[in-house]
Amino acid sequence: MTQEWWQRGIIYQIYPRSFQDSDGDGVGDLKGIAMRLDHLTGLGVDALWLSPIMPSPMADFGYDVSDYRGIDPLFGNLADFDALLAAAHARDLRVVLDFVPNHSSDRHPWFLASRSSRGDRKRDWYIWRDPAPDGGPPNNWLAQFAGPAWTLDAATGQYYLHSFLPQQPDLNWRNPEVKRAMFDALRFWLERGVDGFRVDVMWLLIKDDQFRDNPPNPDYQPNERSYNSQLPLYNSDRPEMPGVVAEIRHVLDGYPDRVLIGEIYLPVKQLVAYYGQDLRGANLPFNFHLILTAWQAGSVAKLIVEYEAALPPGAWPNWVLGNHDQPRLATRIGAAQARVAAVLLLTLRGTPTIYYGEELGMTDVAIPAAEVRDPAELREPGRGLGRDPERTPLRWDGSGRCGFTTGTPWLPLGGVTPNVAGQQAEPGSMLALYHHLTATRRASAALTSGGIESVGAQRGVLSYRRTSGGERWAVCLNFTDAAQPFALPAGELVASTHADPPARDVLRPNEAVVFRL
Ligand code: GLC
Repeated sequence: MTQEWWQRGIIYQIYPRSFQDSDGDGVGDLKGIAMRLDHLTGLGVDALWLSPIMPSPMADFGYDVSDYRGIDPLFGNLADFDALLAAAHARDLRVVLDFVPNHSSDRHPWFLASRSSRGDRKRDWYIWRDPAPDGGPPNNWLAQFAGPAWTLDAATGQYYLHSFLPQQPDLNWRNPEVKRAMFDALRFWLERGVDGFRVDVMWLLIKDDQFRDNPPNPDYQPNERSYNSQLPLYNSDRPEMPGVVAEIRHVLDGYPDRVLIGEIYLPVKQLVAYYGQDLRGANLPFNFHLILTAWQAGSVAKLIVEYEAALPPGAWPNWVLGNHDQPRLATRIGAAQARVAAVLLLTLRGTPTIYYGEELGMTDVAIPAAEVRDPAELREPGRGLGRDPERTPLRWDGSGRCGFTTGTPWLPLGGVTPNVAGQQAEPGSMLALYHHLTATRRASAALTSGGIESVGAQRGVLSYRRTSGGERWAVCLNFTDAAQPFALPAGELVASTHADPPARDVLRPNEAVVFRL
């Protein structure tokens, strides 16, 4: 079976602000990323997904775009981007851009025009509604970062919709001119040679055409984000979505070898619909269920079986353990289980995505109140919604500023360990484990493209087989911090969380092993 690069490969997410600073302003940039490509080829990944680098007032750190065809000066310029792309391609690394089509910045010239008057030609590029009879918002929809999803524009007397911050007005994806402008922006980058896009909040692009109120969420807990107090029935995953995704895909299909990835937080059944009719939708609708499922062998076994069974014929699976919106893996499940998780991610069937720093087992960095930057935390403080802790700079070495910057880092480094140089020198390090796992995966047809069989869990141990032709592998993962009796298969031990081989019939606490049978 011939595979596309995005099926065979491993994706690595870079949060550009925090990867490598080249000019001493304390914020990472494109030249910085270019300086560190050795780390990525050494790690054995195939594609870089860059969180947003387009011009932005940074109200939501780049997820508020004010120009879909440029580079924010903080990160460099288009020449720097072209140089990075060429350098990456020269090493067989693909580059995937974050594309944020649901909303722009409120400083985008389109929105400035749209809000200038009711009669403006771009008025309908955004979602404007008259006030309710009492003067309040047009309906009860909530923003994901607290408060109503509507803000009144006093000058023109109407409300505009924003699924996130008021500085992030939602574009009107029912307007053909908006679509045309967005597709042109995609082509701008495709022509430059980018290998694909990760589309931000893909499942939110279309809203109910009647703007009906959302029903309350009966399971809401008062300390959760206020957004969760409703079921987002009418402002997410609308029936028109497959058509829109197919149109986006059609743009990419005009170019060879590109990938369309969708950020989609939905239950498995709804998620897999984003592969689209006849697989003409997203190539990889991001599967976040390893993040959302309880970290127990039984629950994860059930998830794998459910997800595999739900995939439409021919659809290629994918798995994600972390990203810039989620607490770090080692913080969620502990350092020892983060190693087990690495074995899981890199031996499951489907494209793995690694979040920068996970290869070191980085944990969340505590952010002093005065240094909090994330609007999610600033607008609903104290609920644990802040995303700064998982966005801190990558530590390259054990020096004072960890080789990240010569200036003051935009978020605290949180100490000097773990760091890349230290782990490179240490045979049992997380980095060494990742390196070994990616190399093992790459060298095996069963692991990169084979089937998955016999998925099961017993007494805290998850196990499965990977197969291709005559090649057979067994993976056994102890999800607990206790020894578990388990009849290990006879075969060659190829990878393990531990330095020395396991006993025949027991897995040690937090032990994961990979056998070639
Ligand atoms: C996505 C991004 C997140 C951002 C939000 C609004 O969920 O991953 O970081 O805040 O969209 O664009």
